[in-house]
Amino acid sequence: MILDELAVPIVLAPLAGGPATPQLAAAVSNAGGLGFLAAGYLSADQLRGKIEQARELTGAPLGVNVFVPGGPSSPAAAEAYAAAIAAEAHQAGVDLGQPRFDDDGWAAKLALLTVQPPAVTSFTFGCPGPAVVAALQAAGSEVWVTVTTPAEAELAAAAGADALVVQGSEAGGHRASFSDDPADDAGGGLGLLSLLQLVRSHTSLPLVAAGGISTGEAIAAVLAAGAAAAQLGTAFLRCPEAGTSQVQRTALAAATPTAMTRAFTGRLARGIRNQFLDTHSHHAPAAYPEVHYLTSPVRAAGRDSGNPDLVNLWAGQTHELSRELAAADLVAALMSDARAALQAAARRYASRPPQ
Ligand SMILES: Cc1cc2nc3c(=O)[nH]c(=O)nc-3n(C[C@H](O)[C@H](O)[C@H](O)COP(=O)(O)O)c2cc1C
Repeated sequence: MILDELAVPIVLAPLAGGPATPQLAAAVSNAGGLGFLAAGYLSADQLRGKIEQARELTGAPLGVNVFVPGGPSSPAAAEAYAAAIAAEAHQAGVDLGQPRFDDDGWAAKLALLTVQPPAVTSFTFGCPGPAVVAALQAAGSEVWVTVTTPAEAELAAAAGADALVVQGSEAGGHRASFSDDPADDAGGGLGLLSLLQLVRSHTSLPLVAAGGISTGEAIAAVLAAGAAAAQLGTAFLRCPEAGTSQVQRTALAAATPTAMTRAFTGRLARGIRNQFLDTHSHHAPAAYPEVHYLTSPVRAAGRDSGNPDLVNLWAGQTHELSRELAAADLVAALMSDARAALQAAARRYASRPPQ
């Protein structure tokens, strides 16, 4: 298992939509962690190019993350939502995008990853079938599946996954849930520590903990809770190697709270609260990727003009702790703090024998 070989138990979260770059992935792998590329929103050809670029920058293992496609939504849902957000498009001086369905190039990406297997192929938004899992494993790739509930963990284990990425509700970006059902929203999703304990009681697979981890102390906490490694996304968004937009970099550094929303993409995700999120979360439909394409020109206009109120500012709950540091320096600092935290906890109780 790759997880047994890492010098540092830090996995870079896949960060689709711009932040994931070959430079960032390679820097984390070169620092002893596991770098990840995000296949989401790229064509298979674009993905091939990024993998080749990353391989020029590191000989260490790398992961690639793929979106598992769902099915099309009723066109009426996106049409009604288009009317609700027309004012923002008008104000930004752009037309709304076409709310179309696609499967994010599923077959072409799997074909590529089976021919040029990365050390790890991970999946989000669902679990690939056992045949897909077995084909990747036969090609030489480990298969990791991101889960948000114990039931999803059982499905992934049954499909043959080698490890599970356990994503707590603190996490930035899209929820990895196998289905995006608004009926589940009321519960708010399981936080990372609860989820780690519950998933561990259902499977003995290695677990990678994700969601709200921005410090070495939090890495120590998930290792103590039984995770084999911590996966950090938001903490790396301000690294110079990341392709994060300037509006998002600025927003990450402030203490503005986050919230869950379907307003930008039609799929539940955590982002920093802004005007678009606050205005449209209550009526945004579950219609992904149709709403993603619909709002795309508005979000791009927001990024280009530096207006954070129009942009999906994906971030986890601890984003204000993110640091503007080179990725290698960040990994080293996090690991040094994690070691110190583990030693401090061990010392504290080793020195207190029961009375
Ligand atoms: C900007 C951004 C993009 C993301 N893109 C992906 C992705 O392409 N695939 C994926 O599995 N998870 C994606 N995630 C979720 C991360 O994998 C991970 O669960 C999350 O970053 C962990 O929480 P944290 O951000 O608080 O560290 C993304 C998160 C962010 C913030």
